[in-house]
Amino acid sequence: MAAAQPAGQPAAPVPWPAQQYSPGTGARPALPASALPGPVAERLRLLAEEAGPEPLCAYVHDPPAAGRRAALLRARLPDWAEVFYAVKANSFPAVLEALAPATDGFDVSSEGEAGAARAASARALIATGPGKTDAMLTALARTGVDFVSAESTLELHRIAAAAGRAGRRVPVVLRVNAATGPLQGALCMDGHATQFGIGEDALPEAAALARSLPGLDLVGYHFHVVSNNLDAAAHAAHVQARLHWAVRAARAHGFALRVLDAGGGLGVAPRGEAPFDLGRFAARLRAAPPPPGVRVVLEPGRWLVADSGYYAAQVTDVKEVAGSRFAVLAGGINHFMLPALLEVALDAAVVDVDHWPYACPRPALTDTTVALAGPLCTPEDILARGIRVGRLRAGDLVVFPLAGAYGWEFALRGFLGRRPPVHTVVSTPQRVSARSGTGPAAAAGAEPSPVEDNSR
Ligand SMILES: Cc1ncc(COP(=O)(O)O)c(C=O)c1O
Repeated sequence: MAAAQPAGQPAAPVPWPAQQYSPGTGARPALPASALPGPVAERLRLLAEEAGPEPLCAYVHDPPAAGRRAALLRARLPDWAEVFYAVKANSFPAVLEALAPATDGFDVSSEGEAGAARAASARALIATGPGKTDAMLTALARTGVDFVSAESTLELHRIAAAAGRAGRRVPVVLRVNAATGPLQGALCMDGHATQFGIGEDALPEAAALARSLPGLDLVGYHFHVVSNNLDAAAHAAHVQARLHWAVRAARAHGFALRVLDAGGGLGVAPRGEAPFDLGRFAARLRAAPPPPGVRVVLEPGRWLVADSGYYAAQVTDVKEVAGSRFAVLAGGINHFMLPALLEVALDAAVVDVDHWPYACPRPALTDTTVALAGPLCTPEDILARGIRVGRLRAGDLVVFPLAGAYGWEFALRGFLGRRPPVHTVVSTPQRVSARSGTGPAAAAGAEPSPVEDNSR
């Protein structure tokens, strides 16, 4: 069987700035409470007043915001591009319910996610990710799945066995671990060894196996190779390069290509960098449609839900140690781990809480730069450094916008056995572009929204 070209060819590598994820060295001002949507700040103030002796930790979910993002993406993309939401980014039921009617389906990686997707009436399911269980595969084969992404030859055998148990044929795509690709950067999974997918040298054997096993229908290939990519042109080049490669590879592997799953990875600017240019991405995709009969699937997570969630924690203590100022929050990486694990420097807002339940004086930090620490017994429990505050008191609330993606789902929940955060739902009105002078980012200093629609 003829070997396919390397999976990323022929596009030339496009540098992808790793510094998107650098923790940020310079100090930056805390956002004012007015930078938050009104319903979010109001709900948090109310909850903090009612919290009683336990300090408040909360996720505020804004499901309509997620629904609007999905509708925007569907409207901008060409009709032939399908959007399957990656449930791992946020599986809160109301968020899933808002996304279900506005997407082509959901991408699930576990039995739990598949159950949540069905409960939210997702239009269709695809299954991706390593370590799929037999129980999940059997349930998907029985209830129906658009396709399963196979991570190895053993997984092909296990999907075939599940198909046999269900008495159905299951469509499969091969997840490709490409040696090279058009995207490069710290969180790009091409070009260095990772545990994901099937190496290019092993693809001919995997394709032959998939074609021979009863119960399997080999329909295409799957790539998920980058996280939080803000370069829309490079992302479109990635989709096009994978599509060209897939057409050639399917011919070489002896089957008719019906699916290219180009993965997720659409980026959200954490601190006011230029947002992912949806208009440019869509225009470039539109210029290069797939051959007839080939579905092109995107499976974004972060881009759809990042701005539909806020993580808030009350300040339990403020202190100065060896010349550095710290605020100790009631929740840290046990509730919200993304900034610490990936060293993402997120903005934080301060919401004043007037209620002070103690007879002793209320400590405060004023006109200074502070590190926002969590309550866990590890120095890693820092949610942000270098936040300049006018005043931050014990009892005030610190709120992180952009906590809707990889927030609670991604947290170190078990460590120290503290209470989980409260989850509450608000409905914010449509945000107006910061460029037109309103909206949270504008209030915070007229930077574009990290997920602004700049496609017009
Ligand atoms: C296979 C797969 N698809 C899609 C996604 C969603 O990626 P993102 O949230 O960056 O769009 C992920 C995230 O890890 C993934 O592993």
